[in-house]
Amino acid sequence: MTGKMWYEGKAKQVFLTDADDEVIVHYKDDATAFNGAKKGTIADKGVLNNQITSFFFTLLGEHGVPTHFIAREGDRDQRVKKLQIIPLEVIVRNRCAGSMAKRYGREEGEMLAHPTIEFCLKDDALDDPMINRSQITALGLATDEELDTIARLAFQVNDVLSAFLLTKKVILVDFKLEFGKDSAGTILLGDEISPDTCRFWDADTLEKLDKDRFRRDLGHVEEAYHEMLQRLTTRA
Ligand code: TMP
Ligand code: ASP
Repeated sequence: MTGKMWYEGKAKQVFLTDADDEVIVHYKDDATAFNGAKKGTIADKGVLNNQITSFFFTLLGEHGVPTHFIAREGDRDQRVKKLQIIPLEVIVRNRCAGSMAKRYGREEGEMLAHPTIEFCLKDDALDDPMINRSQITALGLATDEELDTIARLAFQVNDVLSAFLLTKKVILVDFKLEFGKDSAGTILLGDEISPDTCRFWDADTLEKLDKDRFRRDLGHVEEAYHEMLQRLTTRA
């Protein structure tokens, strides 16, 4: 990390660099759940999520998904393109779990007939409320055309990651993405893809290998993050 801190989030810090259109993302060990209501740390989470996110963004880049990722720099840092983040959490689900299972009274793990997409306003103070496309365009958060691009990319990410993870005996239950615009106004995938932002279940035992272990006090949190990195980086 070199320059001045530009932004600090719950799990990451972002630093300016000498290049106007590049920033350094620094991954912390801090863990929160329920929009910051529950706080803790997960040993080495920053190191693991940096490696896991770098791995996934490289894979997605190879499959033609435009992302902010440039390179991993050491244990906790990543060089990425500077984005103006669109304040939406874009959630794709393959199975009903978490807030969807609760909201609609379904079994955790129920298969969905097809993948779904939903949007939440990224605002901790408001508890990230769900927001629909009509409301997003009405509030000027994104245009219909931008939302079409975001949805197309989000489902492409789902296809690439789901297929890859199955070769590692992991079910991609659901995940959250964030998108932003670069200086030319192009929409790129930003933020991270890690056990903090995805539900990963072992394909045989359905054991949780993600942050639900922290959210739900299931124990063996660090082990789950290590296990995910190991599965990704070990040849099948
Ligand atoms: P949910 O079922 O709690 O709505 O979560 C859906 C997915 O989004 C899950 O993989 C966890 C991820 N997620 C985040 O990355 N950040 C959040 O703030 C929330 C609520 C969920
Ligand atoms: N983004 C949420 C928070 O920081 C955490 C979560 O449930 O993933 O509290």
